[in-house]
Amino acid sequence: MVNVRFKVNGEVVAAKGEPGDSIMQVAVRQQLPSIEGECGGELSCATCHVYADTQGFRPLSEEEGELLELVEERADNSRLSCQLILREEMTDIEVTIP
Ligand code: FES
Repeated sequence: MVNVRFKVNGEVVAAKGEPGDSIMQVAVRQQLPSIEGECGGELSCATCHVYADTQGFRPLSEEEGELLELVEERADNSRLSCQLILREEMTDIEVTIP
């Protein structure tokens, strides 16, 4: 299990995910606002934008970078949460929902 903390609207929502889950899947299971995951993780909607406060995820791909061009409030640590996959060695992850 990986502990995932979502910072959203000034609050922290604690959740748990399994290795192999994406942050988007964990957020959708928690029914968090603003994370729709409309395309199901197929990298075509950008409705899963978060700020990755924890490092250690795989680097931004060209395709993800292009899609991030479309999101409002883009920051240096902007990521599409469907591309942030939990791994066995991860313990505590923190992301902010714009
Ligand atoms: S869920 Fe569509 S791009 Fe992430």
